[in-house]
Amino acid sequence: MDADLQNEFNGDEWYGNHIERVIISADAIQEKVTELAKRVSTDLADSDDEIILVGVFKGAVMFMADFARALSVPVKMEFMALSSYGDSTTSSGTVRILKDIDSDIKDKNVVIVEDIIDSGLTLSWLLKYLEGQEPASVTVVSMLRKPGMQHTDIPVDHLGFDIPNEFVVGYGLDFAERYRELPFVGVLKSEIHQNS
Ligand code: IMP
Ligand code: MG
Repeated sequence: MDADLQNEFNGDEWYGNHIERVIISADAIQEKVTELAKRVSTDLADSDDEIILVGVFKGAVMFMADFARALSVPVKMEFMALSSYGDSTTSSGTVRILKDIDSDIKDKNVVIVEDIIDSGLTLSWLLKYLEGQEPASVTVVSMLRKPGMQHTDIPVDHLGFDIPNEFVVGYGLDFAERYRELPFVGVLKSEIHQNS
């Protein structure tokens, strides 16, 4: 790992020896947030309808916070909590609503703000659920996507990065509820997975 990226770990004290390698640096993420926000702001600039960002707890929180502040259009922020995969590193495929959105999205422009698309099950379920409420439009923005696992027709309007098919943490993504606060995206050392 190069010296700059190693410095992001803040020595050994802050998960310093847990990360195998950094896949996307904090700087690259922030640049991408700016670019995605510009694109979405441009797309929706002329719309008279209200814009509602919908994020899924907890993974999308970091991206949602940065993305909302980088937009140049006014929005409302909504969060849903869905049944998670627990501490497992593979998806189970079941989706249950633990917390719903608070706003009425009928005739509004909805922007789904996703951390990562893996199997695509979460997103395809969410799309159906929100489209059932008759919004004026639905735009999908995802910071990360893994290859090969998705059902064929997962529409992503604005994508940050395609990443290798490995379990990653940071920038909202966790392993056993840890590592979400890392400002970069990285791969955990295999002994960290295996020991828990
Ligand atoms: P999907 O339904 O399989 O597309 O998975 C979506 C959710 O699984 C994401 O929102 C994450 O919370 C979680 N997830 C998928 N891959 C990873 C990963 O590599 N690290 C951490 N969480 C992940
Ligand atoms: Mg998530």
